[in-house]
Amino acid sequence: MYNEKVMEVFRNPQHMGEVENYNAIGTVGNETCGDIMQITMRINDEGIIEDAKFKTFGCAAAVATSSTATGMIIGKSVDEALKLTNKEVVTELEGLPPQKIHCSVLAEDAIRVAIDEYRKSKAN
Ligand code: FES
Repeated sequence: MYNEKVMEVFRNPQHMGEVENYNAIGTVGNETCGDIMQITMRINDEGIIEDAKFKTFGCAAAVATSSTATGMIIGKSVDEALKLTNKEVVTELEGLPPQKIHCSVLAEDAIRVAIDEYRKSKAN
């Protein structure tokens, strides 16, 4: 069902866990399947994501897309990270089965929630 690239990332996911001293956290649930993903990030004063990690109770596609998306935003500014779409993540993974595309939305949503919350906390 999954291509080799997805299976490779699923078997050896990167950036799994929780960032020490994180200052941004986002947790989202997937409406389609009920699975959950959480992302933690440490964002520096210049708005650069110094580190990011994820935890998910999702399927192989959720693990692979979360790992890939997390890797794609480390070192980026929060504005750049907000532009990351699930399509780019799926392309990076060389495709997902159509019935698994909804899994790739978890990471994109969690990144958005974490950055939103971070910005709100900075505004206070
Ligand atoms: Fe729930 Fe994939 S089936 S995240």
